[in-house]
Amino acid sequence: MKLCVALDLPSAKENLELVEKIKEYDVWLKVGLRAFIRDGYNFLGELKKINPNFKIFLDLKLHDIPNTMADAAQEIAQFGVDMFNVHASAGKVAMRTVMKRLESCQKQPIVLAVTALTSFDEANFQAVYNQDIASKATQFAKDAYESGIHGVVCSAFESQEIKNNTCADFVTLCPGIRPFGEDSGDQKRVATIPFAQENSVDFIVVGRPIYESTEPANIVKRILDIL
Ligand code: C5P
Repeated sequence: MKLCVALDLPSAKENLELVEKIKEYDVWLKVGLRAFIRDGYNFLGELKKINPNFKIFLDLKLHDIPNTMADAAQEIAQFGVDMFNVHASAGKVAMRTVMKRLESCQKQPIVLAVTALTSFDEANFQAVYNQDIASKATQFAKDAYESGIHGVVCSAFESQEIKNNTCADFVTLCPGIRPFGEDSGDQKRVATIPFAQENSVDFIVVGRPIYESTEPANIVKRILDIL
């Protein structure tokens, strides 16, 4: 299992200071909407300058018409990032169009599809999708798998069921992880690291428990020690 650190701090300076503190560790860095909208493509280069071995997950959750998503995916692939994501609810045609477009790219990143956001509880999920989280997340995952996508973003609670319904190699990346009993914040379905391990999770995403800590390097080290 790999650790992906979410860089969700309010400025590029603070994110870069955080990355500087954890540069010796074998982690992935997650650049999300906040950092990318504010700091753009150059920020990705700044991260690589700190340690060229960092892998970058660009978490922009594309959701649009198929051609627009494929155009955006092609641009993202040209950045040289290692992983990015789309929303499975954009549909199979959109996901297939994205994967088809990436065939011609020199370096193909891992592409994930978001199933159910970990901030949803059952009631709010029902209100949007008219279905329970577990069965809809599995359906989204099957759609993604059949569209040639490499894996999904899901909660640790759905990871094993998704693999059972797709294949063991189908990647699961799970946010909402609280390694040492930290506050769940806006996340509704939080899990521990042992639970993620039992459920064959491939990547855990950890944000606030690391960047809100006064000793982020120590938290990263403690997480890596138990992975
Ligand atoms: O701070 P925390 O550990 O809750 O951060 C989780 C990160 O994962 C955030 O950057 C959030 O945008 C992202 N994420 C999520 N749920 C998803 C997809 C991404 O929480 N389904």
